[in-house]
Amino acid sequence: MNYIFSEKVSHLQASAIREILKFTSDPSVISFAAGNPAPEAFPVEEVQRISQKLFQEEPIAVLQYGITEGYTPLRDTMKARMLAQGNFKPETEELIITSGAQQVMELACKSLCDPGDTLIAEAPSFIGSLNAFKSYNVNLVGVPLDDEGMDPVKLEEALKANPNTKLIYLIPNFQNPTGKTTTLKRRKELYALAQKYNTMILEDNPYGDLRFAGEDVPTIKSMDTDNRVIYAGSFSKVLAPGIRVGYAIAPKPVISKMVVCKQVSDVQSNNFGQMLAYRFMQEVDFDAHLQKLRAIYKQKAERMMNGMDKHFSRKITFTRPEGGLFIWCTLPQGSDMMGFCSRAVQENKVAVVPGSAFMISEQDETFSFRLNYSTPTDEAIDNGIEMLGALTKEMFGE
Ligand SMILES: Cc1ncc(COP(=O)(O)O)c(C=O)c1O
Repeated sequence: MNYIFSEKVSHLQASAIREILKFTSDPSVISFAAGNPAPEAFPVEEVQRISQKLFQEEPIAVLQYGITEGYTPLRDTMKARMLAQGNFKPETEELIITSGAQQVMELACKSLCDPGDTLIAEAPSFIGSLNAFKSYNVNLVGVPLDDEGMDPVKLEEALKANPNTKLIYLIPNFQNPTGKTTTLKRRKELYALAQKYNTMILEDNPYGDLRFAGEDVPTIKSMDTDNRVIYAGSFSKVLAPGIRVGYAIAPKPVISKMVVCKQVSDVQSNNFGQMLAYRFMQEVDFDAHLQKLRAIYKQKAERMMNGMDKHFSRKITFTRPEGGLFIWCTLPQGSDMMGFCSRAVQENKVAVVPGSAFMISEQDETFSFRLNYSTPTDEAIDNGIEMLGALTKEMFGE
């Protein structure tokens, strides 16, 4: 049969990058291509204990339908935590539990954007969100980042050129894929531009609790004086991505619309995951748990950066993240980045993600690739970086 797909999704293609990523299933390949939490970061024993108690004490509640907005005790806990962090205003805002932060991007776009409306994103940005936006046929416009975050001059140009902009999508902390953090000054500038051009901001913050260097920077949500920011958070990187629990905070009318849209998507988020997240926050010292995670990622990030300092050609530059999971590495202008990534995996058995995977269109020019330090072992970091370094020297000189 000849299947004719809807216009909405017919332009979503399996990525050319898969050709590189398919090598990561080979166990002899060292993968810096993942975006997963470190295996040692999972609180397995606590999760086992809490799960057993959940099924002993409240089995029907775990197995029964729940409400679309989310498990009330978890919502209340998150509201209190977000209020304390300055990210929630009870008078004007609500909080919905979602199936991962991924669903926040989907629901925000579904609720607010018509086909052809403009959505501005950092270029590069998180591929999962970009694909969610593309599936709603928005006019997706990329604005580059400099060392302080999204370039405000180019953002203003994009806003002027696209008066139908509905959302500006930002990942201000330890951005995926660049590892960059938007400075406070820049956050204020971006918010002021959203005010000037009367558009909303979608602030995605799944890595904010994973800062291992430098000082915390206030969220854009915390400076949202006129209710134009949708804030997305997640338990994926601080507890477990497999439980699929995220959340959004937004003005009450926006959350009401997202609730209706979620009813259509999946009715509710998984009860077990929500109840586990709630009990974990009640029964385990969550802030001590976060400290443990930060120590794990600090050690791994420093190990990788030290290896890169030692082994990489001096023609290569890379970001020095203060948190999160990623380093963004840039080859000299004009070099064959795809060729480098292919040789790395085929000849040296080291997988990285070519930067084009994170561009608005895979055809957009980039000489960068993404490295992940959370998943590989220390030994794999040492060996993989040494091999990548040797390849950089061979291709680009000392
Ligand atoms: C920037 C960013 N946003 C959102 C997500 C989605 O996370 P989840 O749906 O697991 O909460 C990810 C996952 O890697 C991410 O990197």
